[in-house]
This record gives sequence, structure tokens and C-alpha cells, in this order.
Amino acid sequence: MSRALATHNHMQTPVPDPAARQPGTQWLPAELDSARLPAHVALIMDGNGRWARGRGLPRVMGHRQGVEALKRTLRLCSDWGIGTLTAYAFSTENWNRPGEEVSFLMALFERVLERELQGLERERVRIRFLGDLSALPAGLQRLIADATARTAGNTGIRFNVCTNYGGRAELVGAARRLAEQVASGALDPAAIDERRFASELHTAGENDPDLLIRTSGEQRLSNFLLWQLAYAELHITDVLWPDFDEAALKTALLDYQSRQRRFGGIQPGSLSPD
Ligand code: IPE
Ligand code: IPE
Ligand code: MG
Repeated sequence: MSRALATHNHMQTPVPDPAARQPGTQWLPAELDSARLPAHVALIMDGNGRWARGRGLPRVMGHRQGVEALKRTLRLCSDWGIGTLTAYAFSTENWNRPGEEVSFLMALFERVLERELQGLERERVRIRFLGDLSALPAGLQRLIADATARTAGNTGIRFNVCTNYGGRAELVGAARRLAEQVASGALDPAAIDERRFASELHTAGENDPDLLIRTSGEQRLSNFLLWQLAYAELHITDVLWPDFDEAALKTALLDYQSRQRRFGGIQPGSLSPD
């Protein structure tokens, strides 16, 4: 994050000295209401391949550019006082892509993590990786373990990177672990409620996302956070992920602030006739 984030040019305000920057809402655009921001934003970063194809470039160049969009978005969310950002980087189905693209992505994850860790530490980001990490290359697993441990005590934005993540695999894993505990006599089936179930998910300890943003216009979940997104507000934008910028994030947050969340109830005041 260090270099690119430090030079990221806010349109509204001059970029502060990173050492003097405090996380919080002080850089929030005036149009946004700090009291009605989503506490947790989930992100399906889609459209890298189409971004590259549109420029006559190989798909992987889209992934490289996508990293810049992620750094930009993380910095903005941190500056604007959003507590948690959870981004979909690689799905359990993405292994089905050509081997060359998968290898490029794994190498890219390693390079970026290596290069950005110091910046993440400086910005007090707490990074975690959600998914079946055991299937990732050993070098990447080591970097992930190191980054997770070194930022675990940080009090800034919580940044979750879903890597080899699949919602169905996550649910099956949770069901299996609960079944094992029941079989061993450690758990009473009657004690399995939503809270207990959620505690077996990769996202244990996180609040559910309030807002899901998906780029590139696709209107599907693609196996992302199937349990956790039950009541998230959905914002789908045609912007391709590498082009996602401050204006696009602001649009998503304004859209979120225009929603009425009901969680199955009714709008307060809607019982009275006037
Ligand atoms: C999203 O962009 C990045 C990953 C899934 C890793 P895509 O690579 O899916 O880009 P499109 O959808 O083919 O344009
Ligand atoms: C979802 O995008 C996965 C990530 C963004 C990592 P995909 O491009 O893999 O999803 P589909 O195949 O279009 O549904
Ligand atoms: Mg895609």
C-alpha cells in the first residue's frame, strides 16, 4: 500500500502527511452522512479481464491494475471511517481458469503482500485472509501467516481478503465441524443456533456486511458470503474493477444511504395513515 497509497490524490482534500493522518471520517465527502455509513463493506472485484481486453492487453494486466484499485479503495474506506472491508480476491471456482492465469494471480498475491506489508502496518490495517488457505502455494501461505500475525493487534480498518474462498465450501466445513463435535459428545444438537453456526464460518467475529458492491455489471453472488449477505444492501455498478475510484465508491455509499433497511420488519411509522 505504501507508495501508491501515500501518493493517492484525493479530489476533495489535500493528501495529509501519512504520519499525521488519523483514521476516521474527517476526509469524508460532504455529501455522505458519517452517521449512516455501512460499518462493513463487501466487494466483488470483477471485470479485470474485460478491462484488459478493452485495451488490447492480456487479461493478467487487468489483474495487475486491479491491485491499484484495491489499494485505492482500502485507503478511501479507511479514511472515510468504514470499519471493515471484505474483498473477494480468488474463488474456489477460479482454479478452473487457465493454469497460466492462476499462477500469475498466485505470484501477484505474493508480490503485493510482500511489497505492501509495511504500508499496511503503518496504516494500522488489520489484515486477514478468509478461505481454504491450505491449498495456496507454500510461499504465499507463509506471507499470509506473517501478515496476519504482524497486523493482528492493529486497531485501524479490518481488511479481509477472501482467497480460495467459496460460500458453499465454508457452509459445508461449518456443518462438518459441528457434526464432529456432536459425534464426539462435545456438543448438544439443541445448542446449534445461528450464533453457534456463524462462529464456525471463516468470518467468525465479524459483523455481517451492510453493503455489497459488485463491479462490471454482473448480477450474481458467485458463491460469495452466502450466509453473511442475507440482509446486505446490493450495489451493482457497470464500472470495471480496475476503474473503480473515489467517485464510484461515493456513488455506492450514496446509494446505500438512500435505502430503507427493514430486516423483515416494517418501516417505523408506516402503521399510521399519514
Ligand atoms: C475478477 O476479474 C478477478 C478475479 C476473479 C480474480 P475477472 O478476471 O473475473 O474479469 P472478467 O470478469 O473476466 O472481466
Ligand atoms: C467472482 O468473479 C470471483 C472474484 C471476484 C474473485 P468471477 O468472475 O469468478 O465470477 P463469475 O464466474 O463471473 O460468476
Ligand atoms: Mg469475472
